[in-house]
Amino acid sequence: MENVFIMDHPLIQHKISMLRDYQTGTNEFRKLVEEIAVLMGYEAFRDLPMEEVEVTTPIETCKTPMISGKKLAVVPILRAGLGMVNGILTLVPSAKVGHIGLYRDPETHEPREYYCKLPESIGQRLVTVVDPMLATGGSAVAAIDFIKERGGKQIKFLCIIGAPEGIKRLREAHPDVQIYCGHVDRELNANAYICPGLGDAGDRIFGTK
Ligand code: URA
Repeated sequence: MENVFIMDHPLIQHKISMLRDYQTGTNEFRKLVEEIAVLMGYEAFRDLPMEEVEVTTPIETCKTPMISGKKLAVVPILRAGLGMVNGILTLVPSAKVGHIGLYRDPETHEPREYYCKLPESIGQRLVTVVDPMLATGGSAVAAIDFIKERGGKQIKFLCIIGAPEGIKRLREAHPDVQIYCGHVDRELNANAYICPGLGDAGDRIFGTK
């Protein structure tokens, strides 16, 4: 599927299986989410533009590749997306962090923005939107709509578990966005939970019920 990358690496799959276990406690869950974000980010940033720069080693001066001036932003969808931010910042400490908060309108069931703060010059940045669970796709589509309305152009979306329904909806709404997904699960249930999934990612990261 174009622009959809499934991260079938053994380390990612192993850690996702640990996340799924209902006996995995808050502390371990949070660490695993962060570790998976590092592994997924490593893969998602594979296409960052490089340039040859001159470096002087203790032996001689040489041309050697470095990531070129591309500015990065990581944008978690509140609240579960927060769990992935430090993982991305481990890889790219200079990235700026935006936040998008959405709630579901009780009448229309459409996502509504209640908070959006993005780094400046968003149009010149590679924007990595993170949310561990891509369920219906409604929040992901809305968040990316907001980022594009504010000038965002190059956007990647990282989720740990995706439902087929959410991946389809996001692809249709934003075919230009590259979707990186740790695992595609079977389906959504009637309450829009991913099956088998891992439950409510936000509650499990923050220890709430
Ligand atoms: N959000 C979650 O945290 N879990 C799901 O299964 C679906 C959406």
